[in-house]
Amino acid sequence: MSAHTLTQIPTDGIVIEGLTKRYGKGDTAVDALKGVDMYVAPGEVVGLIGPSGSGKSTLLKCLGAVIEPTSGRMTLGQDVIYDNGWRIDDLRALRRDRIGFVFQAPYLIPFLDVTDNVALLPMLAGVPNRESRERAVELLSALDVAHRASAMPAQLSGGEQQRVSIARALVSRPPVILADEPTAPLDSERALSVIRILHEMAHRFQTAVIVVTHDEKIIPTFKRMYHIRDGRTHEEIGEGREIGATLNV
Ligand SMILES: Nc1ncnc2c1ncn2[C@@H]1O[C@H](COP(=O)(O)OP(=O)(O)OP(=O)(O)O)[C@@H](O)[C@H]1O
Ligand SMILES: [Mg+2]
Repeated sequence: MSAHTLTQIPTDGIVIEGLTKRYGKGDTAVDALKGVDMYVAPGEVVGLIGPSGSGKSTLLKCLGAVIEPTSGRMTLGQDVIYDNGWRIDDLRALRRDRIGFVFQAPYLIPFLDVTDNVALLPMLAGVPNRESRERAVELLSALDVAHRASAMPAQLSGGEQQRVSIARALVSRPPVILADEPTAPLDSERALSVIRILHEMAHRFQTAVIVVTHDEKIIPTFKRMYHIRDGRTHEEIGEGREIGATLNV
């Protein structure tokens, strides 16, 4: 099935066409992506599902300009960012201003407390310190970790660190959020509240969100998802199940 048969391609959001990524050279080369087609509309949360080693993290890292693809094309909003080579000069600015990352393993800045870890990016982007901290605390409460707002990262549990790193990815309201197994270290109630927050942020700020997950509780919340197998993506319609209460972020 073609990747684009089920829904129309948006003119905004994320569009990926024929993306390939080869790691290494010669006999030991690994073709992690062999021609990925994918799109995510603004305001949409799409699941990315596939077995270990199928290329999920590779795809997010290419889109997030953490690694360079081998060939293909990627568009964010109105900008072609990659077309058989990077098409924008400042990749650091792209990562900083337009992409929120939630990594498989959360990394927080060890010498800043929880609030400042979350507030740092908007502060650097010129949002007044007080407003940045207010946004940080709002998100920390939504993620049920506000009681640890003045703790240092090393004093947090793994799940708490993960929720802080999710708050950090959301706080600058980037147009794209890429989340790699964001709920892996969380219990099921907190996993659901994380996914609910991602859906609400997407809706409210018209963010395009990709969530890599194996989590059976989360998969039914996607209206649309991509299965990745053998380096290629296959689009599928999901249940799009609602997850209860709304949130004030
Ligand atoms: N830096 C690298 N150098 C060489 N091969 C790599 C590198 N990173 C990933 N690979 C290989 O590329 C393939 C895809 O890896 P990737 O990390 O994208 O998989 P994944 O779907 O995220 O898996 P998981 O569910 O285990 O996180 C794997 O075969 C992996 O071994
Ligand atoms: Mg991975």
